Amino acid sequence: MVLVIEWVSPWVGRCSRESTALGCSTAVLGPRHSRVRGRRVLSPTDESSRSTLVAVEQQHWPHPPVTAHRREATEDESRHANGLDWDRYADEYQATHGDFLGDVGFVWGPEGLTEAQAGILGPLVGKDVLEVGSGAGQCSRWIRDQGGRAFGLDLSHRQLQHSLRIDEETGIAVPSVRGTATVLPFADGSFDVVFCAFGALQFVADIERAVAEAARVLRPGGRFAFSITHPTRWMFPDDPTEEGLTATQPYWDRTPYVEVDDTTGAIAYVEHHRTLGDWVGILAGAGFHLTTLLEPEWPAGHDRLWGGWSAVRGRLTPGTAIFGADLLTGTRSGPLV
Ligand SMILES: C[S@@+](CC[C@H](N)C(=O)[O-])C[C@H]1O[C@@H](n2cnc3c(N)ncnc32)[C@H](O)[C@@H]1O
Repeated sequence: MVLVIEWVSPWVGRCSRESTALGCSTAVLGPRHSRVRGRRVLSPTDESSRSTLVAVEQQHWPHPPVTAHRREATEDESRHANGLDWDRYADEYQATHGDFLGDVGFVWGPEGLTEAQAGILGPLVGKDVLEVGSGAGQCSRWIRDQGGRAFGLDLSHRQLQHSLRIDEETGIAVPSVRGTATVLPFADGSFDVVFCAFGALQFVADIERAVAEAARVLRPGGRFAFSITHPTRWMFPDDPTEEGLTATQPYWDRTPYVEVDDTTGAIAYVEHHRTLGDWVGILAGAGFHLTTLLEPEWPAGHDRLWGGWSAVRGRLTPGTAIFGADLLTGTRSGPLV
């Protein structure tokens, strides 16, 4: 396995484009399209010279035409495809969702539940915190603002460039590193808290290793929390309308959702599914004591669409699951080789 770790270089551009494309429809991408936190094909229009710079870069990484499949994907295939995919998608993700996330804000999911409301991580003042799949670091920046020492790790260079941009704009810097959830570049017992807000876990094939890595870098008694697409959503098409309320595939079928580049035949994007029972077993197997499973309700008056998340569906069925677990004292995993 090759692990690339690099500190993020400065980037001064700010993405100001508006996406003009429609959401990826099931007609385009096949019967299953479970893009985490909602994704759209970007068709940029840029106004300023700075955003022209962004556009030039973006044209080097266009979204390829893809076809959705259900097939196996290894950890290496998943990491390679998803890193490139998040590089392609980062500008649009931040332009579309940045205001909702808040530059210094901690939102657990499209329902808008904040860590200030939920308190899943526990006290943060003076704590060493690692965010895995940190994206532009909004959550970690909020933790720093609360007095915690948060650090970011993400697979996507472009997401980390956005993180650095927001560091500069807010004056609250989140030291961040490029890497993958399955090989955390930190010593054993480095953190009091490890968390993911829709980051990384749905993108890795080797989930046991990713959770074992979280356990390894935590101190005994440390806290691990993460939000993911609610596992029951796997049964439904990624459609925010009433059309998306009819179950079309088995909850128990863990075969990954894979998009394949029509031109090259290469895997372009992968998402992995685990049932609620799988998650209980994975956490217990890594030495965690599960304390919390939050299924945030869709708030009244919350009309925001985010991919397959909407008020129409959110009134009836959960879209997000948030797990909280404590590392049992004396059971931390050893180094993984
Ligand atoms: C839905 S975004 C969430 C980012 C951020 N937590 C937020 O709330 O906006 C998922 C992030 O996970 C990152 N990611 C995907 N696979 C990863 C992996 N194997 N290791 C680390 N990060 C990964 C992506 O690059 C992306 O930034």
